[in-house]
Amino acid sequence: MIDTACVDLFCGVGGLTHGLISEGINVVAGIDVDEACRHPFEINNSARFINEDVGRLTPKHLRELFGNAEIRVLAGCAPCQPFSTYAQRYDVVGSPRWGLLYQFGRLIKATRPELVTMENVPSVAQHAVFDDFIKTLEKLGYHIHKEVVDCSLYGLPQSRRRMVLLASLLGPIKLVAPTHGRPTTVRAAIGKLAPITHGEAHQNDVLHVASKLSDLNFKRILASRPGGTWRDWPKHLIAECHRRESGRTYPGVYGRMAWDEPAPTLTTQFYGFGNGRFGHPEQNRAISLREGAILQGFPKSYSFVPKGAPVHFKALGRMIGNAVPVTLGKVIGRSVAAHLGIGEAKARKKKGAVAHAARKSLVA
Ligand SMILES: C[S@@+](CC[C@H](N)C(=O)[O-])C[C@H]1O[C@@H](n2cnc3c(N)ncnc32)[C@H](O)[C@@H]1O
Repeated sequence: MIDTACVDLFCGVGGLTHGLISEGINVVAGIDVDEACRHPFEINNSARFINEDVGRLTPKHLRELFGNAEIRVLAGCAPCQPFSTYAQRYDVVGSPRWGLLYQFGRLIKATRPELVTMENVPSVAQHAVFDDFIKTLEKLGYHIHKEVVDCSLYGLPQSRRRMVLLASLLGPIKLVAPTHGRPTTVRAAIGKLAPITHGEAHQNDVLHVASKLSDLNFKRILASRPGGTWRDWPKHLIAECHRRESGRTYPGVYGRMAWDEPAPTLTTQFYGFGNGRFGHPEQNRAISLREGAILQGFPKSYSFVPKGAPVHFKALGRMIGNAVPVTLGKVIGRSVAAHLGIGEAKARKKKGAVAHAARKSLVA
C-alpha cells in the first residue's frame, strides 16, 4: 500500500477532491477562503477543510498537513477569472488574483511535493504566469505533462475544455486516455429529474430549484427551441442590444440545451436563462442548481448545504459553476494512481481475492 497524502489548494466545494478520493488518492485537507465550502467539502469527503488564504499558507503548515506520507501530492485550481482572453499577457505579476498561481509555485518550491496537479482554463497557457509556473517546476526537476482536456470525452455531459498539468519528481507522468468515443448527453444526465416550475424548489430536494423568470424572459423561453438561439424569436422579444448590428454575432445567450448533446460549458451563472444556453430542453425555465451540479459530474447525493439551512441561490450556483468537475477529478486521480501503480496494486489485490474465492469454492 503506497502511503499518499494530498492537499487541495483552492478546494471549493470539493469537485477535484471528490474525484481524487474516488480513485484512491488520500486527500487529507482542502484550503479555501470561502467558509461556505466547509460543509460540502467535509460532509462528502473524509478530509479536513481549512479556511485560509493560500497566499498566507506557510510551508510549515503545509508540511504538517502532509505529515510523514511517502508520496505528497499538491493539487490546485487557482481561480480562473483573471485568465480571460481579454487580459493582457504581461499584466499579471502585480495583480493579487493572478498572483495566486505564483503562491502555488512558492509552496511547491518550499515543500517539493513528489506530485503536483493543476487545472485551469485553456487560455491560462497564453499568460506569462503559466510560463513562470512551468519554469519553476522544470528548475526543481519535475517531469511535466500538460494537455487541454475535452472533458466530454471522459463522460462529463458537458462541453468543457480545461488545461490540466501533471508534474512528478518520480518520472514521466501522463493523463489516462479518453474513455468515451461519444459525449454523454443532457438527457442521460438530467432527463429523469422531476419537473419543476421556474422560481420553485422541489419538495424533496432543496437544490432542485430554478431561478424565477421575468414575464419577458418567460415569453422568450416559450419561443426558444432546444439548441436554438434568440435569433429564433419574434422581433419584439429580441433584446435591444441584439437588434443592433454589433450584437448580432453573439448568439450564445438565451438558449435551451439540446437533449441529445452535451450541455454547454457551465459558468458561475449557469442558473440564469439570459447568461448562456442554460434553458432546460423542454421545461420553461433555466436549469436548476441540482441539474447544474449533475452536469458538473457531482453525484445526485452530493450535499451542498446542511439539512434545514437556507440555500443562498446565487452563491451556491457560483460555487457549483466554479468547481472542477468530479469527472475531471477522477481522470486526474486515475492518472496519478496509474503513475504510482496504485491501480495495479488494487487490481492485483482484486485478482488475488478472486483467485482465493475460486480456490475456496474448489475445496468446498
Ligand atoms: C475555481 S474554484 C476551485 C474549485 C475547486 N477546486 C473544486 O474542485 O471544486 C476557486 C476557489 O478558490 C478560492 N479562492 C480564491 N482566492 C483564494 C485564496 N487567496 N486562498 C484560498 N482560496 C481562494 C475560491 O473561494 C474558490 O472556491
